[in-house]
Amino acid sequence: MKKIFALLALAGIANLAAAADVVGNADAAKNKVAMCIGCHGIPGYKATFPEVYQVPMIGGQSAKYIESALNQYKKGDRKNPSMRGIAAGLSDQDIADVAAYYAQQK
Ligand code: HEC
Repeated sequence: MKKIFALLALAGIANLAAAADVVGNADAAKNKVAMCIGCHGIPGYKATFPEVYQVPMIGGQSAKYIESALNQYKKGDRKNPSMRGIAAGLSDQDIADVAAYYAQQK
């Protein structure tokens, strides 16, 4: 009987692990955000290609928001050309990591 419980418990843990989303790691993001800082790190900065865009502040926004914005650029639901190119080069793990990183900022 004990064995069955142990097996059930293990199966439960395995299920949990499989169902868990990609978890963002802010530390792992440190070398991934280098390219973001050029535009997003400067208050009031405007990107000028191919038109003039106001660059929004992303530090301190919720990880969920940043993540979904990046996924929308990646899929083409959001159409900003600079961000689209950048998001296209990010994996799901990269997106989770940078989202965790920026969510920690004030
Ligand atoms: C070439 C300049 C540039 C770089 C580099 C850049 N961004 Fe952006 N980003 C922009 C601009 C401009 C916008 C606003 C686009 C729009 O209006 O949709 C934006 C929008 C965003 C948004 C949506 C913000 C909001 O409030 O809706 C997120 C999230 C974001 N960028 C994350 C990143 C991350 C993460 C990186 C690095 C991997 C990065 N960006 C690199 C210019 C840049």
